[in-house]
Amino acid sequence: MTWLITGGAGYIGAHVAHAMVAAGERVVVLDDRSTGVVERLPDAVTLVEGSVSDRALLDRVLAGHAVSGVVHLAAKKQVGESVEQPLLYYRENIAGLAVLLEAVVAAGVPRFLFSSSAAVYGVPDVELITEETPCLPINPYGETKLAGEWLVRATGRAHGISTACLRYFNVAGAAAPELADTGVFNIVPMVFDRLTRGEAPRIFGADYPTPDGTCIRDYIHVADLAEAHLAAARKLAVGGGGDLTLNVGRGEGVSVRELIDVILEVSGHAVEPVVEPRRAGDAARAVASDARMVRELGWTARRDVRSMVESAWEGWCLRHPEALPDTRK
Ligand SMILES: NC(=O)c1ccc[n+]([C@@H]2O[C@H](COP(=O)([O-])OP(=O)(O)OC[C@H]3O[C@@H](n4cnc5c(N)ncnc54)[C@H](O)[C@@H]3O)[C@@H](O)[C@H]2O)c1
Repeated sequence: MTWLITGGAGYIGAHVAHAMVAAGERVVVLDDRSTGVVERLPDAVTLVEGSVSDRALLDRVLAGHAVSGVVHLAAKKQVGESVEQPLLYYRENIAGLAVLLEAVVAAGVPRFLFSSSAAVYGVPDVELITEETPCLPINPYGETKLAGEWLVRATGRAHGISTACLRYFNVAGAAAPELADTGVFNIVPMVFDRLTRGEAPRIFGADYPTPDGTCIRDYIHVADLAEAHLAAARKLAVGGGGDLTLNVGRGEGVSVRELIDVILEVSGHAVEPVVEPRRAGDAARAVASDARMVRELGWTARRDVRSMVESAWEGWCLRHPEALPDTRK
């Protein structure tokens, strides 16, 4: 089988590309390099530079490589930016997806996996978020992921395409240092960034109704997430029709304070975090029920938070050697 991975030069996409190649799949990556790093890609992958909004290019790639499945990761993903530039987010994440799906339908590609996000749920007040928890996104980014799912499922049903929408929870870690996240939008690299500057990590709100007062999240190692894609791709390959909508998390809550403690231990920095006021839009708790994923894919995440932090720190220090505590004299 040949899989087209859009956004394959990105943080998560490159991990998916490595996992698929290691599992013996043929992989073509389409990436416009807006945030991607092509050096992350394994040699066995064919890279096509361009956008998912370029219909003529898509037609050539899908036919030219006899693509039999698409994993669509290419997207804009910054919540704050989506609030400031909703039109950009709807154009990239929805209009771009529509062009891609039109090409997929025209080429008769039978399988489609879509990168969704826990952002589709908004801020639900539940112990465990199941796929039945109402989706009430609170920002344009989350809206585009939810509307993207609608588009994917409706197109799949209308045209006999097997689809999977994977709702990632908090992604962290790296399978190898050079594959690490280069952005500083998620909490782990944000804390690394503060420590590298000699600043204290920040905790936004310590008065939430949680055991230590800080927000609780569900972190998943990006290498586990890549394996989940492979398991879903395999399921679609044997499935023949139907749609899957799955949470991808570990079903285990870790508080911001607990996470920062692990980061300080792993990095060797000894800085007491500072508590700042709550941020708008942060749920006290967002932890996935992984029951449906385990049932449907027969797969479960294996790597713990410490291994996420250790691998992410190794990747961070590769690009920021000054972050190591003993180089800061
Ligand atoms: N990182 C997370 O914590 C997280 C959580 C939930 C969901 N997601 C979703 O996972 C996907 C990948 O996220 P990531 O963290 O790897 O982001 P990333 O920015 O590292 O990767 C996105 C990739 O897509 C490419 N790209 C962007 N727009 C494109 C376009 N129009 N045409 C072709 N390529 C394009 C970029 O160059 C980049 O390589 C996104 O859809 C994101 O919304 C990420």
